[in-house]
Amino acid sequence: MAAVLIIGAGGVGRVVAHKCAQVRDVFSDICLASRTISKCETIRQEIIDKGLGDIKVRVVDADDVQAVTALIREVHPAVVINVALPYQDLAIMEACLQTGVDYLDTANYEHPDTAEFEYNEQWALDDRFREKGLMALLGSGFDPGVTNVFCAYAQQELFDEIHYIDILDCNAGDHGYPFATNFNPEINIREVTAKGRYWEQGQWIETDPLSVRIMHDYPEIGERASYLLYHEELESLVKNIKGLKRIRFFMTFGESYLTHLRVLQNVGMTRIDEVEFQGCKIVPLQFLKTLLPDPASLGSRTKGKTNIGCVIQGLKDGSRRKVYIYNVCDHESCWQEVFSQAVSYTTGVPAMIGAKMMLQGIWRGRGVFNMEQFPARPFMDALNMHGLPWQMLELDCD
Ligand SMILES: NC(=O)c1ccc[n+]([C@@H]2O[C@H](COP(=O)([O-])OP(=O)(O)OC[C@H]3O[C@@H](n4cnc5c(N)ncnc54)[C@H](OP(=O)(O)O)[C@@H]3O)[C@@H](O)[C@H]2O)c1
Repeated sequence: MAAVLIIGAGGVGRVVAHKCAQVRDVFSDICLASRTISKCETIRQEIIDKGLGDIKVRVVDADDVQAVTALIREVHPAVVINVALPYQDLAIMEACLQTGVDYLDTANYEHPDTAEFEYNEQWALDDRFREKGLMALLGSGFDPGVTNVFCAYAQQELFDEIHYIDILDCNAGDHGYPFATNFNPEINIREVTAKGRYWEQGQWIETDPLSVRIMHDYPEIGERASYLLYHEELESLVKNIKGLKRIRFFMTFGESYLTHLRVLQNVGMTRIDEVEFQGCKIVPLQFLKTLLPDPASLGSRTKGKTNIGCVIQGLKDGSRRKVYIYNVCDHESCWQEVFSQAVSYTTGVPAMIGAKMMLQGIWRGRGVFNMEQFPARPFMDALNMHGLPWQMLELDCD
């Protein structure tokens, strides 16, 4: 039994708080802290109304290391779950180092001024976490997160050698808006408008944004156009999956989303640099975020399913093998359980499970880790137990 501090009361923070409250034998004391206290209060009331007990709520500016340090000293958590924005990763890690507390997040550090997705600055803290006997678990969402665990499971139990991995992320949900993003709009649009990149034969190959398109048949959803993107789990998987020849990441987008995005880009609304507006400096993408629907508000209107998984090819006992490991998640079921849509749900559940693995000592280590560095099986079992059951298909080899 341990105390946990969750930072960030957005779409994902809501799911993490609800799921931790469902597992009280592990998370006996829960504190949810964020910039806007009213969001924490709403989630607290939902949890009480569900009969899951009470949680503490606090206001914090997570960019301020001293403020986070003071909060950690007040709450005495065994682990801090960071589900604020990627911009806060380094400040929260620093506060954990200063107070001697373990750390977990779901997205790699990004500097607000550059749309670069790299683990370097977080990996650079490995020595300091190691020296202090602390653990940081990076990317414990779905992708990154569960996708890394699926690859680790394949490496540990299904294959002798893995040669090809395609990670495939489909959201076939319909929220009825012509344009909205399913998680933080600023982070989502920065990711989608960045150049694509995949890894083949030891080299990174860059592609123009959304220029590589394939059709893929997603179980329980059907065929969908899927676009090659760079995604952060590729960076750690190329280091940790041995014998790999190629790894790529694809995500589906509907025509309406892509048309709106193209127009917004063409008129400069997705820019992340400051522009002068009526005597003030504004960042167009941040302004756009204030106009778009709050992702946390999409849950009640979203119908349909997500399917995220990995198609993995390699050798087993001298023969070629190809498997597809995936999870299907239903938006409406998520809403009924935790008042969120499936994109937040599929991120928040693995964050809770990652923290549970750490607190139960099932995943332990000193330093900074990615998900595929630990035994996959206990995490895969926990996914089945906590609302994200996975399935596996044997496919014909190419
Ligand atoms: N790995 C995955 O599969 C995956 C998938 C989706 C999302 N994610 C990640 O999950 C995280 C949360 O996403 P989301 O959709 O929940 O975003 P969101 O709805 O925008 O929520 C972010 C929350 O963080 C709070 N926050 C922002 N800056 C803060 C600060 N300086 N101090 C304290 N709190 C702060 C926000 O407060 P306000 O309400 O006051 O703005 C908001 O409540 C992001 O890092 C995202 O990249 C990961």
